[in-house]
Amino acid sequence: MPNVTKAYNFQAILEGALSFLPGGVWLLSRKGTGGTTSARYCYTVWLRHLIKTAPFRKGPPTGTVVELGPGDSLGIGLAALLSGAERYVAVDSVRYADTQRNIEVLGELVALFRQRAPVPDAREFPRVKPELQDYRFPDHLLPKAWLYKALDPGRIQRIESALRETQRTQSMVCYVDPQHKNTIPQGTVTHVFSQAVLEHVDEPNAVYTACHDWLAPDGVMSHVIDFKSHGVSKEWNGHWLYPDPLWRLIRGRRPYLLNRLPCSAHLDMIRAAGFALVSVERTHLPSSIETRQLARRFRRLSPEDLTTSGVFLVAQKPPMATRHLHQSACVESQAF
Ligand SMILES: C[S@@+](CC[C@H](N)C(=O)[O-])C[C@H]1O[C@@H](n2cnc3c(N)ncnc32)[C@H](O)[C@@H]1O
Repeated sequence: MPNVTKAYNFQAILEGALSFLPGGVWLLSRKGTGGTTSARYCYTVWLRHLIKTAPFRKGPPTGTVVELGPGDSLGIGLAALLSGAERYVAVDSVRYADTQRNIEVLGELVALFRQRAPVPDAREFPRVKPELQDYRFPDHLLPKAWLYKALDPGRIQRIESALRETQRTQSMVCYVDPQHKNTIPQGTVTHVFSQAVLEHVDEPNAVYTACHDWLAPDGVMSHVIDFKSHGVSKEWNGHWLYPDPLWRLIRGRRPYLLNRLPCSAHLDMIRAAGFALVSVERTHLPSSIETRQLARRFRRLSPEDLTTSGVFLVAQKPPMATRHLHQSACVESQAF
């Protein structure tokens, strides 16, 4: 690519500048996040995390499940409850989801689970990761008798009532902002997950440390991270072209944008938080940008990071004896 400014998206720069004006942030955050308004999207995302983490868990979901950044509805976590988890805590910096939409999505999810519908695949959701080898309903993970209990009408009624009191700390469904994440008791969570969130978080190392604190010793953490530019550049990886001052203008006063950390930086932070990575699936796209064209602080990006458009990862707490080794792992991410 000869001229890097050709990859700049001037509308994104303008929107960032707009956010400094009174009312500008409100104008920009009126748009929702998209995906979780659809029950079928929530169903496919949850079942993909469930299926992919199955080798690292014992049996069907139980206990407390935490989701980071649910977006427009709490549907992915509701799917976790309908699979048998006992409690769901959603942590989001913007409160996009509302009670009415959550209740509608809950009704549609109940119907999908009762039908034991196949996992919606790439024909319906071409951009959703991780991909599966088999999109049939996972009967082996959610046996009929288990699901029968999880979908008991009285239980569905309790979930619906909980959706009306998500601000109550002890509620079966709890919806908190990141400042209140300390309300999650340490060492109690069986599964913490997110879908297309950690690329947006300003301080992911603090988030990974919090996840580590929450997780039970045999718990599991799974995340999909999307490293694409989310439209702020004309190239899929063009967000790494912007020099810092221009990036600060694009970021503006929006509640969040992109932290621009590449895949290896996230993996290092996860290890530094004390986790063992048990599965890492990178997705690659070709790059028309060369490393030398990137903004100065990204010029040390490895060819692998430059072409990594997404990752699905699973991490767990390592057995006690090896934990200190992971905590002292080199933190390449500090370079960014
Ligand atoms: C692209 S949306 C993804 C929404 C949903 N997970 C999905 O799959 O459609 C990103 C979400 O991350 C949330 N987010 C951004 N920064 C966050 C933070 N520090 N802690 C928790 N959530 C955050 C946003 O509010 C938003 O809901």
